Amino acid sequence: MRAVTVTPGVPGSLRLTRDHPEPPTEEGGILVEALAVGICGTDHEIIEGHYGEAPPGGDTLVLGHEALGRVIEDPSGTLQRGDLVAGIVRHPDPVPCANCAVGEWDMCRNGQYTEHGIKALPGFARDRWRLQPKFAVGLDPVLAPVGMLLEPASVVAKAWDHIERIGGRAEWQPQLVLVTGAGPIGLLAALLAVQRGLAVHVLDRNTTGPKPDLVRALGATYHTGTVGELDFEPDIVVECTGAPVVVLDAMCKAGPAGVVCLTGVSSGGRSIDFDAGALNRELVLENNVVFGSVNANRRHWDLAAEALARADQDWLGSLITRRVPVEAYPEAYAHQPDDIKVVLDFTL
Ligand code: BGC
Repeated sequence: MRAVTVTPGVPGSLRLTRDHPEPPTEEGGILVEALAVGICGTDHEIIEGHYGEAPPGGDTLVLGHEALGRVIEDPSGTLQRGDLVAGIVRHPDPVPCANCAVGEWDMCRNGQYTEHGIKALPGFARDRWRLQPKFAVGLDPVLAPVGMLLEPASVVAKAWDHIERIGGRAEWQPQLVLVTGAGPIGLLAALLAVQRGLAVHVLDRNTTGPKPDLVRALGATYHTGTVGELDFEPDIVVECTGAPVVVLDAMCKAGPAGVVCLTGVSSGGRSIDFDAGALNRELVLENNVVFGSVNANRRHWDLAAEALARADQDWLGSLITRRVPVEAYPEAYAHQPDDIKVVLDFTL
């Protein structure tokens, strides 16, 4: 069968393998036919050789962690033939650490977790894959065109879960949210904020392309320019660019008792001049919290599946700006200016 693979650490090793072995039953009892995988910055990092790890005993990693498939068979009876399904990306570490032991693998403490398509587990960019029931998330049939957005939505659902837990440490009635970056994570963060009844502002550097209209269609306000220029103090900031200046501006911008959630993974290696004392003073005197958030556990995947099923399906569909057949895979991994979410389609 077909699989899109790389040799981690070797830039330019992306290829389509046609004789990839069928998924072994040890992967799980649920056999799934691939429909699509979404592509994100992490895939690009892996392709460029900066990130990623092959499963033990080999040097090849199947890409793809934003999965959507259709169940071929599930002997456990958890899912039915034809059901839409996504695979949870992260598996708990084998020790397990205190967090993995209770299913909170998104908070793994020892770094020995594994991740499909990223770290030591084969990804979902192959014609068929298998899952264990506890890592299989069924999707509402209405999500057939957009279900590969469940993985980024799970990351955002986890961010919101933690924002609310942190905010809830004292009396808290948030109203204003700032999301920096209108990529897939930023737009999904804005969607979940709107679903919570909050007033949402999204800032991005793009003045043209689909992003301004996508934000307005949510009932949110679109801004360009710098965070410093905004004339309000948000109760919550969800930072989704990972761009150093935006990250620092976002940390300074939150209002009293504000919560700033960082979700963007920066590449690092660039330093900028920054007044750390002024930031410290601001954070202390305003009881602000800045925290990082990555990945998601089962509870977040289930919350995300509900949030997506409740959303306007046409709006979700317009986040997918290109669907590329697997046979044309190099096109899917080549950036184009108005890309939001590019999807590798196994059915075209
Ligand atoms: C994925 C996460 C993963 C992270 C780090 C992100 O692209 O969405 O599930 O934990 O990369 O590997």
